[in-house]
Amino acid sequence: MFYYLIRKLLFLIDPEKSHIFVLKCLNFKQAQILKKICFYKNKSSQNIKCMGLNFSNKLGTAAGIDKNGEYINCLSEMGFGFIEVGTVTPLPQYGHPKPRLFRITQMEGIINRMGFNNLGIDNLIKNIKKSHFKGILGVNIGKNRDTSIKNSINDYLVCIEKIYNYASYISINISSPNTIDLRTLQHGTILNELLYNIKNKQAELHKKYFKYVPIAIKISPDLSKKELKYISKKLIEYKLDGVIATNTTLDRSLISGYKHSLEEGGISGLPLQKKSTNVILLLSKYLQKKIPIIGVGGINSIDSAQEKIQSGATLIQIYSGLVYHGPYLIRKIIENI
Ligand SMILES: Cc1cc2nc3c(=O)[nH]c(=O)nc-3n(C[C@H](O)[C@H](O)[C@H](O)COP(=O)(O)O)c2cc1C
Repeated sequence: MFYYLIRKLLFLIDPEKSHIFVLKCLNFKQAQILKKICFYKNKSSQNIKCMGLNFSNKLGTAAGIDKNGEYINCLSEMGFGFIEVGTVTPLPQYGHPKPRLFRITQMEGIINRMGFNNLGIDNLIKNIKKSHFKGILGVNIGKNRDTSIKNSINDYLVCIEKIYNYASYISINISSPNTIDLRTLQHGTILNELLYNIKNKQAELHKKYFKYVPIAIKISPDLSKKELKYISKKLIEYKLDGVIATNTTLDRSLISGYKHSLEEGGISGLPLQKKSTNVILLLSKYLQKKIPIIGVGGINSIDSAQEKIQSGATLIQIYSGLVYHGPYLIRKIIENI
């Protein structure tokens, strides 16, 4: 109830400003009372094994909430079993011009065309060092806008090399719809080249640091059955450690007729729920339990979280559901899945 009152006020503000405002408030040392009311102290550990790591519960933050790792401490106090920061790119970049984030309130949806706004990988490393966070920290990486697709693999390799010692797992974002041609990395020869090179880099760094950091690939919900079958085959062939399904969708039919529905960008939240679950179902069939799935897209209740797990996800992540239902949803999901 309390959150829905606050939400009324937050929804009067521009969505991007309101997102930063909430995180900044929660980061304040003086916000202890607020945190006591809102945050879930999760004492019991469910000890879930995935990608060779031990997670205290199945629910994590999706990429995009904390692009620069500025709020790792406060997110870690909210009860999540893991935190994924990013997307970060080798160099800082502004992203698309504002406004670039829109609420489709009646549908519990969000459209974003942020365009990998971030302060770069070196800044993220500084923030991770400052955080002293001891839990599972995923780092989601991408390519800079000005790097051509032909040269993009190098951007991923640069990020892997720099972040390897600071991440529990690395997530390769080749599915954001807001960076031109990024999604072409999910197909054909360039996918092979990408997977081959990142696995080589991982092996090289494993040897160098005596530490194996799992790598997961984050995919789009807009892939056809045939494309999903192909990508699954390649993930098995190259022995990827995990797959995150899914990023936002470009399927406008899911929100047609609603205010902002024609804004460019990827759609998340409730409109994406069924589509991402279908992708998880198909991945489960094609991957035959050889590679774990992290399910994300439209989780906004215990049922929708259960549905992702029943469809084959070992872990789940959330973003838009938090905007619409607040931190109480974290407790409800963790205690019931
Ligand atoms: C404002 C916003 C920014 C996002 N930024 C990123 C990002 O930087 N990298 C990424 O992999 N996914 C990003 N996402 C996608 C989410 O991680 C997630 O895959 C998607 O929103 C579906 O989950 P949801 O329905 O729970 O929001 C972003 C989503 C939103 C709403």
